Amino acid sequence: MTSLSGKRLLLGLTGGIAAYKAAELARLFVKAGMDVRVVMTAAACRFITPVTMQALSGQTVYTDLWDARVRDNMAHIELSRDRDLILVAPASADFMAKLANGLADDLLSTLCLARQSLLAVAPAMNVQMWENAAMRRNVALLREDGIAVMGPGAGDQACGETGMGRMLEPEDLFAAVAVLLGPKLLRGRKVLVTAGPTYEPIDTVRGITNQSSGKMGYAVAQAALEAGAEVTLVSGPTALAAPLGAVRVDVRSARDMHEAVMARAMASDIFISVAAVADYHVVDAKAHKIKRGSGNLAIELAPNPDILATVAALKKPPFCVGFAAETENLRVNAQAKRKRKKIPLLAANLAQETFGRDDNALTLIDDQGEHELQRAAKIVIARQLIAHVAGMLKSS
Ligand code: C5P
Repeated sequence: MTSLSGKRLLLGLTGGIAAYKAAELARLFVKAGMDVRVVMTAAACRFITPVTMQALSGQTVYTDLWDARVRDNMAHIELSRDRDLILVAPASADFMAKLANGLADDLLSTLCLARQSLLAVAPAMNVQMWENAAMRRNVALLREDGIAVMGPGAGDQACGETGMGRMLEPEDLFAAVAVLLGPKLLRGRKVLVTAGPTYEPIDTVRGITNQSSGKMGYAVAQAALEAGAEVTLVSGPTALAAPLGAVRVDVRSARDMHEAVMARAMASDIFISVAAVADYHVVDAKAHKIKRGSGNLAIELAPNPDILATVAALKKPPFCVGFAAETENLRVNAQAKRKRKKIPLLAANLAQETFGRDDNALTLIDDQGEHELQRAAKIVIARQLIAHVAGMLKSS
């Protein structure tokens, strides 16, 4: 079960080369248990065939305002009435201009005008078109009308140019839809998440770090966003893209992370400390590259502040969640850690079974005891963790 299971989507395709990505998108939605009905404009049919979309959605694809198969011949009404969301992906510049001005001259634009559901668009166009003044006006109008504009992203374009205008990747659009339609267990809450490793310089080119990929922390940030929270993600060095909608603060060392967290902790309702923070930093890190010598080289280490324990010791702390990555005696060590750091909830995992992986298994430890989250994709585990946190906040 996903939070999208059973939701009803109308996926609209307009004319753009990114239409091929809509095939993958439809597959992701169907896999998540959604009911996906596809409507295509005439231009979209030039890029990808209705047969492809029909095979992937498992439902009849509609392209014509005058489709006699629809009851009462009212395709523009019938096809949108039972939907939770209309998502137009790709949304061309022309289609967005139509939407902004309330034009309705084909099935998809008429459906959008006659809708009772949420409406989202995923722009896909050349960078110059996206930056054009008319387009800027239209996007502002769409936002004013409560239409969710998802993306676009930046990068290489099919036309050979580079810049803003690429349609978001299917996984990103899927995540954005999950945010829009998911249960809002943390609506109005401010969530501060730390993620990734830290990096402690030895000299200008060398440093001490660890094998944390940041995937778990980023998944927690994503799950908190989906639950309607305002999310700030304080991240150590990772190659991951921040989830859409999160405010990202990049840091390097544990002491940078400490500073970034302390500046925001008091204003947060929840602090989830997923980062694998270095326990020590190098005393007297050199401002030049250390040269090779013949003898041993000793590096002196001094302890870093314990960020989580410091936040938990604030006069009015946010609700604190810690992560414990252990290599052995998981439960005993984790229980002790929760007591020592004085936090209400600790998520324990085995370091060798989580670092760098896309899946994880967690033992949640709180006042009530232990709760097992069976091995699953990190985003799935993160959603369960967020639901647990929301439950604890509700009953406190
Ligand atoms: O004590 P240990 O490092 O195993 O505790 C793990 C938890 O404490 C994690 O939630 C981690 O983010 C946090 N931590 C911290 N500051 C440190 C070390 C760990 O906030 N210096």
